[in-house]
Amino acid sequence: MTYVVTEPCIKCKYTDCVAVCPVDAFHVGPNFMVIDPGECIDCSLCVAECPVSAIFNEPDLPVEYARYVALNAELSRTWPLTKDKGEPLVDADRWSEVKEKLQYLETVETV
Ligand code: SF4
Ligand code: F3S
Repeated sequence: MTYVVTEPCIKCKYTDCVAVCPVDAFHVGPNFMVIDPGECIDCSLCVAECPVSAIFNEPDLPVEYARYVALNAELSRTWPLTKDKGEPLVDADRWSEVKEKLQYLETVETV
Protein backbone atom coordinates (compact mmCIF):
# COMPACT_ATOMS: atom_id res chain seq x y z
CA MET A 1 0.00 0.00 0.00
CA THR A 2 1.10 3.56 -0.52
CA TYR A 3 -0.11 7.09 -0.82
CA VAL A 4 -0.26 8.57 -4.31
CA VAL A 5 0.09 12.13 -5.65
CA THR A 6 -2.43 12.90 -8.40
CA GLU A 7 -3.38 15.43 -11.03
CA PRO A 8 -4.30 18.46 -8.88
CA CYS A 9 -0.59 18.79 -7.98
CA ILE A 10 0.45 19.37 -11.61
CA LYS A 11 1.54 22.98 -12.21
CA CYS A 12 0.86 23.83 -8.55
CA LYS A 13 3.47 21.94 -6.48
CA TYR A 14 2.66 23.69 -3.21
CA THR A 15 5.13 21.36 -1.41
CA ASP A 16 3.39 21.53 2.00
CA CYS A 17 3.26 17.73 1.86
CA VAL A 18 7.03 17.32 2.01
CA ALA A 19 7.39 19.20 5.27
CA VAL A 20 5.43 16.63 7.29
CA CYS A 21 6.67 13.38 5.77
CA PRO A 22 8.63 11.42 8.39
CA VAL A 23 10.50 9.34 5.80
CA ASP A 24 12.26 9.92 2.47
CA ALA A 25 9.19 9.36 0.30
CA PHE A 26 8.84 12.52 -1.82
CA HIS A 27 10.60 13.07 -5.12
CA VAL A 28 10.30 16.27 -7.08
CA GLY A 29 10.03 17.05 -10.78
CA PRO A 30 9.66 20.27 -12.76
CA ASN A 31 5.95 20.76 -12.09
CA PHE A 32 4.78 17.76 -10.05
CA MET A 33 5.69 15.77 -6.95
CA VAL A 34 5.54 12.00 -6.49
CA ILE A 35 5.68 9.50 -3.62
CA ASP A 36 8.02 6.51 -3.69
CA PRO A 37 5.80 3.52 -2.87
CA GLY A 38 8.80 1.69 -1.45
CA GLU A 39 9.44 4.40 1.15
CA CYS A 40 5.95 5.58 2.12
CA ILE A 41 4.92 4.19 5.52
CA ASP A 42 1.22 5.04 5.09
CA CYS A 43 1.16 7.55 7.94
CA SER A 44 -1.35 9.75 6.04
CA LEU A 45 0.13 12.99 7.42
CA CYS A 46 0.66 14.50 3.97
CA VAL A 47 -2.98 14.20 2.89
CA ALA A 48 -4.33 17.03 5.02
CA GLU A 49 -1.41 19.31 4.18
CA CYS A 50 -2.06 19.51 0.43
CA PRO A 51 -4.13 22.64 -0.33
CA VAL A 52 -5.53 21.05 -3.50
CA SER A 53 -6.24 17.56 -2.07
CA ALA A 54 -3.93 15.86 -4.54
CA ILE A 55 -2.84 12.97 -2.28
CA PHE A 56 -4.86 9.77 -1.79
CA ASN A 57 -4.40 6.44 -0.11
CA GLU A 58 -4.17 3.94 -2.95
CA PRO A 59 -7.39 2.04 -2.06
CA ASP A 60 -9.31 5.34 -2.03
CA LEU A 61 -7.97 6.59 -5.34
CA PRO A 62 -10.68 8.04 -7.62
CA VAL A 63 -10.91 5.91 -10.76
CA GLU A 64 -9.90 8.80 -13.01
CA TYR A 65 -6.55 8.92 -11.19
CA ALA A 66 -5.74 5.21 -11.48
CA ARG A 67 -2.77 5.79 -13.78
CA TYR A 68 -1.06 7.90 -11.12
CA VAL A 69 -0.10 4.77 -9.17
CA ALA A 70 2.31 3.77 -11.92
CA LEU A 71 3.38 7.37 -12.53
CA ASN A 72 4.43 7.83 -8.89
CA ALA A 73 6.35 4.56 -8.92
CA GLU A 74 8.09 5.31 -12.22
CA LEU A 75 8.97 8.95 -11.68
CA SER A 76 10.19 8.43 -8.11
CA ARG A 77 12.92 6.18 -9.52
CA THR A 78 14.49 9.02 -11.51
CA TRP A 79 13.41 12.29 -9.90
CA PRO A 80 15.51 13.58 -6.98
CA LEU A 81 14.53 13.05 -3.37
CA THR A 82 13.30 16.17 -1.60
CA LYS A 83 12.86 17.01 2.08
CA ASP A 84 12.41 20.73 1.61
CA LYS A 85 9.30 22.80 1.44
CA GLY A 86 9.69 25.34 -1.35
CA GLU A 87 7.65 28.03 -3.04
CA PRO A 88 4.60 26.99 -5.06
CA LEU A 89 4.93 27.33 -8.82
CA VAL A 90 4.07 30.63 -10.48
CA ASP A 91 0.29 30.83 -11.04
CA ALA A 92 -0.28 27.83 -8.76
CA ASP A 93 -3.50 29.32 -7.44
CA ARG A 94 -4.85 29.77 -10.96
CA TRP A 95 -3.82 26.26 -12.02
CA SER A 96 -5.44 24.80 -8.91
CA GLU A 97 -8.79 25.45 -10.59
CA VAL A 98 -7.89 23.68 -13.85
CA LYS A 99 -8.95 20.08 -14.62
CA GLU A 100 -7.32 17.50 -16.90
CA LYS A 101 -3.75 18.67 -16.32
CA LEU A 102 -1.92 15.44 -17.15
CA GLN A 103 -1.15 16.89 -20.59
CA TYR A 104 0.98 19.54 -18.84
CA LEU A 105 3.13 17.12 -16.84
CA GLU A 106 6.81 17.74 -17.46
CA THR A 107 9.04 14.76 -16.81
CA VAL A 108 12.31 16.45 -17.77
CA GLU A 109 13.58 19.93 -16.93
CA THR A 110 13.11 22.15 -19.99
CA VAL A 111 15.24 25.09 -18.86
FE1 SF4 B 1 5.16 10.46 3.76
FE2 SF4 B 1 3.21 9.58 5.33
FE3 SF4 B 1 2.61 10.83 3.06
FE4 SF4 B 1 3.64 8.37 2.99
S1 SF4 B 1 1.63 8.96 3.82
S2 SF4 B 1 4.28 10.11 1.71
S3 SF4 B 1 5.03 8.44 4.73
S4 SF4 B 1 3.66 11.74 4.84
FE1 F3S C 1 1.65 18.77 -4.77
FE2 F3S C 1 -0.06 19.16 -2.85
FE3 F3S C 1 2.35 18.40 -2.28
S1 F3S C 1 0.14 20.41 -4.67
S2 F3S C 1 3.59 19.28 -3.89
S3 F3S C 1 0.86 17.23 -3.43
S4 F3S C 1 1.17 19.87 -1.17
